[in-house]
Amino acid sequence: MSLVTELRQRLNRQRGPLGLRLTNALTSAIEDELIAAGEALPPERELADDLGVSRSTLRLCLEQLAEGGLIETRRGAGHFVSRRILKPVTRLTGFTDDMVSRGIQPISRILEKTIMPVPPDTAFRTALPLGTPVFVLVRLRLAGDEILAYERSIVPVTSVGEDYDGTGSLYGRMDRHGGRPKRILQSMRAVEAGPEIADHLKVKPSTAVLMIRRIGYGGHGVAVEDAISWYRGDRYDYVAEING
Ligand code: GLP
Repeated sequence: MSLVTELRQRLNRQRGPLGLRLTNALTSAIEDELIAAGEALPPERELADDLGVSRSTLRLCLEQLAEGGLIETRRGAGHFVSRRILKPVTRLTGFTDDMVSRGIQPISRILEKTIMPVPPDTAFRTALPLGTPVFVLVRLRLAGDEILAYERSIVPVTSVGEDYDGTGSLYGRMDRHGGRPKRILQSMRAVEAGPEIADHLKVKPSTAVLMIRRIGYGGHGVAVEDAISWYRGDRYDYVAEING
């Protein structure tokens, strides 16, 4: 099957905005090695015409792939699949990464975003000095139109920048600032949803949900995230690969 036919099928299999579907289609095609490492992508104009998308949409997607290190753009020569992905580095993933890699559109509803001095319980867990300005982000996380989780992430403002508005992927934003966590401590526990969590997750109170706590550390062992999430137990499968 030609690359274009394959890309078209991958585009049509998904729902959501065209740009996101196109980025997902191209990412998965590269990851599945439909275009080999080092090989050039078809020229922009040709690819846009063949896929029936505008050149500006395609260009935005290509910029995202380049930012993520999947492709390299060489002036005047075109876009090439990075050789780097031959040796994939295990990257700590967040909600957006997990959804996109499954071909699902991640959606977030921001319920709260505040900058404040680190709350004492977070300071206690993370050893961030009292008074450190943090960004508190409370979101409802959806897979397409299905509610999956209610999540509160607290990160130092230096990890996201003061002008962060809470939209998009938090880890994506951190990648462009101080960097996403490099190591995490994570705990998972089945708990009964209290009235507030049940209301957010649209389940009956006392339903079993999965509570996940995560403390993320950056390069120098300094905490860069204190997060707690409640996942719907009937919608979320936690898969781990463990190397011994
Ligand atoms: C998961 C983690 C959170 C993390 C989030 C980042 O849900 N449990 O600790 O904050 O991913 O996700 P995203 O990059 O989609 O904002």
